[in-house]
Amino acid sequence: MDREIALRAAKLREEINYHNYRYYVLDSPVISDAQFDALMDELRAIEQAHPELLTPDSPTQRVGGAPAEGFEKVTHPAPILSLDKASSREELFAWHARIRKLLPEDAPPLAYTVEPKFDGLTVVLHYRQGQLVLGATRGDGQVGEDITANLRTVKTLPLRIPVAPDGPQPPSYLVVRGEVLILLKDFDALNERLIEAGEAPFANPRNAAAGSLRQLDPAITARRPLRLYAYSIVTADGPIPETQHGTLKYLRALGFPLPDEIAFFDDLNAVADYCEAMHSRRDQLAYEADGLVIKIDDLATQTALGVVGGRPRGAVAYKFPAQEATTQLLDVEFSVGRTGVITPTALLEPVPIAGVTVSRASLHNFDFITERDIRIGDRVLVKRAGDVIPYVAGPIADVRDGNERPIAPPSVCPACGDPVVHPEGEIAYYCINAACPAQLVQKLTYFTHVLDIEGLGERTAVQLVEQRLVSDPADLYYLTKEALLTLEGFADKKADNLLAAIAQAKDRPYDRVLAALGIRGVGTTVASVLAQAFPSLDALAAADAESIASVEGIGPITAQNILTWFAHTHNRDMVEKLRRAGLRLSAEVKTPTGAQPLAGLTFVITGTLSHPRDEVAAWIESLGGKVSGSVSQKTSYLIVGADPGGSKYNRAQALNTPMLTEEQLYALAGARL
Ligand code: IVH
Repeated sequence: MDREIALRAAKLREEINYHNYRYYVLDSPVISDAQFDALMDELRAIEQAHPELLTPDSPTQRVGGAPAEGFEKVTHPAPILSLDKASSREELFAWHARIRKLLPEDAPPLAYTVEPKFDGLTVVLHYRQGQLVLGATRGDGQVGEDITANLRTVKTLPLRIPVAPDGPQPPSYLVVRGEVLILLKDFDALNERLIEAGEAPFANPRNAAAGSLRQLDPAITARRPLRLYAYSIVTADGPIPETQHGTLKYLRALGFPLPDEIAFFDDLNAVADYCEAMHSRRDQLAYEADGLVIKIDDLATQTALGVVGGRPRGAVAYKFPAQEATTQLLDVEFSVGRTGVITPTALLEPVPIAGVTVSRASLHNFDFITERDIRIGDRVLVKRAGDVIPYVAGPIADVRDGNERPIAPPSVCPACGDPVVHPEGEIAYYCINAACPAQLVQKLTYFTHVLDIEGLGERTAVQLVEQRLVSDPADLYYLTKEALLTLEGFADKKADNLLAAIAQAKDRPYDRVLAALGIRGVGTTVASVLAQAFPSLDALAAADAESIASVEGIGPITAQNILTWFAHTHNRDMVEKLRRAGLRLSAEVKTPTGAQPLAGLTFVITGTLSHPRDEVAAWIESLGGKVSGSVSQKTSYLIVGADPGGSKYNRAQALNTPMLTEEQLYALAGARL
């Protein structure tokens, strides 16, 4: 019996690792989230009942173990080298000429592998018998720090290789070098979350990755959207590929994530062309890259070329120019977010930075302004990367002429004039006026975004607030056509469309409604965790801080925020208005009857079908499927009707989400509505 359980645990671990790999590395999951969760639950239950079966590489261990006291030092098995750089085509050719001279005349022609130069943190990963046993920072290149517990929480980092059952068997000892970073889109979301929670946002993705990796508490690291990209083998005690492009292929086969932007050339001109092309595409990359790395493909040649000053001759960094410039800080604008957080934005003398004219930049928060002593009138250094909002990095203090003015946090809200509050221990300053119009506009746009109400953007939100047609998001459900027609730019059709979109969004699941309320710290992820623990909004409203905080993934601050939110009468009134409007305030308890041909599948509907959308949605659910309001990685199919809406369709295309016509849906279900 015990043996059977042990076998089952091993099998589950293998399956879960494989599905993690399909999801995070290949971006192509083969099972639904619910199925995945079921596997994890089963494994957790076994490990709880039989702790002796718990292995350190178990996928259940990614959530982070006990906090460490500090970090142990680790001596690297071979020096973790850095790179020489070239900043232009000419310098690239000069590097090449230097190494060509060091090679024998009759040496075979060279080939080159080109990779992105990730702007993250180097990590050194040790695998024994395919198991991750140690992960270290680069440190000084000789000695790094043991951050294994934190690295275990990085979702794309294989805990056991090969990840795929048919992958190659690695040597018994293998040390892989890679870079841990945060994708630009994840960085934006992370900072948004931090700001909402009253915490200090990070200045850039690199700082965010570094700060997250060096956390003493791995549970914090686990909540940060870190990614790994692998690029070389430091050492191994068995045969490994002899070329760089072979190494990359091998690492990929073992299950390590690699970026798409890898290229292989046998001509240096082509390498230089590729570098220039990538430079112009820099802003479209998913991550921050400060250049490309060009490596002599033949590893024996790389070794033969040797190392000078800690830099191998056989590779070079082609650096993109820094995306920064200096300009004058003309003024500071304060704006109010949906939770009342007041954020400072720098108004700048317009300045071109790597092809984009920048006239506004983030100043992060008031702590940052004080820390860097940034003053109005200062010459400041401004940086930008990808589509991330440009930010002020700091002042250039030695060119001050004495006319600079310090920046004080506002004492009253710039939108409503109410006094500003700065809670003890928090970084943020808040406007706590529940009726503040600026907050209301942000709350409305957030609400419509989360509930996927099309056609209600910021412009309309401002109009609704200015005309006093709504005083909270729930009022949207009580808007009349007559009222909408009084707004500028609203004619018959536009009003009808908006009312239809609002009505349709009554059908969103309870966890979405919970997220849309805009409780500080309760975004879509936290809301779905909460919805599982508290199957109705009433149950959540009745819970005490302790029971909320006891839910895995929910901290005491969020628990307190939830309590505070429900303590306000106007928030409770809003809940009642939502209830009266017919929104779902509890999880559906489904007792499936009959066939469930759509079980495990998540659908999103766009465009007009032959039946009203909510009817189609109910029908899908009756067959075991799920219906969601927006396209994500988790969407199994987008059902496309007539005149499909742009955003869902575009997102599905971007994510390669399979699409079905109504007829194809019926074919898939083996039934018709
Ligand atoms: S190769 C001998 N490849 O850039 C191998 N480094 O100064 C030397 N980096 O901090 C490194 N992406 O961590 C290599 N694709 C890549 C890289 C990369 C980023 C970092 C590296 C180091 C710096 C090199």
